[in-house]
Amino acid sequence: MRKPFIIGNWKMNMGFDEAYEFIDGLIERLSTQQLDVFVGIACQSPLLVPMIAEFYHEEIFLGAQNCNDHLSGAYTGEVSATILNEIETDFCIIGHSERRQYYNETNESVNKKAKLLLDYDIKPIICVGETLEQFENNHTKEVIEKQVKDCLKDLDIKKCVIAYEPIWAIGTGKTATTAIAQDICSLIRENLRAMYGDKADEVTIQYGGSVKANNIKELMACPDIDGALVGGASLNLDEFVAILTYE
Ligand code: PGA
Repeated sequence: MRKPFIIGNWKMNMGFDEAYEFIDGLIERLSTQQLDVFVGIACQSPLLVPMIAEFYHEEIFLGAQNCNDHLSGAYTGEVSATILNEIETDFCIIGHSERRQYYNETNESVNKKAKLLLDYDIKPIICVGETLEQFENNHTKEVIEKQVKDCLKDLDIKKCVIAYEPIWAIGTGKTATTAIAQDICSLIRENLRAMYGDKADEVTIQYGGSVKANNIKELMACPDIDGALVGGASLNLDEFVAILTYE
């Protein structure tokens, strides 16, 4: 049985005070709930140190939004898997479409980052997804298959989480229909099965892209969707709690 994992990706939002207030509120709200999901928050890297120190014993996983594909060296402004490990980061998002679009992240660098994160005991959340143009030209399948093949090769796959995020659905208010989301998550699992055999059945596959309280339930009902990567809606405590308690 795969226990669902829902992660709030705060992107470049939330300062120190707001973040503390949010997590305090989240802990309080969740203390009265019987949750069937793992909960994660990916915050800006400088926030990780105080947040992990403060909330270490809580049931909320704290993660980074990127790391470099080298372990150390002359890479000004970058963050390494080693230091994420030293501060006891639980997970790290890699290959997010915003990183691919603005910072030249490639399938190859995503694969390198995933290996480094696994070496340093940090769960990689590996994003894949097609652009609007690719979607409209019916190229989704081949784009996803190539991303899966290149980003996910030679990994300890059971320790990875895959997030299917159609780029045209991120921050746009357009969600992929449940049927599309399920189809592509199932395609990802099929490809994983070809690469890793039965281990594919143990891999958590999230959907991301305009996930909200009003669409989470039907997404989570899909057999190959095991959670969500939530952007905008994770900045609002009420909305995020409603997403986590979607039943
Ligand atoms: P969104 O972002 O929920 O605001 O569409 C999702 C993401 O970028 O992970």
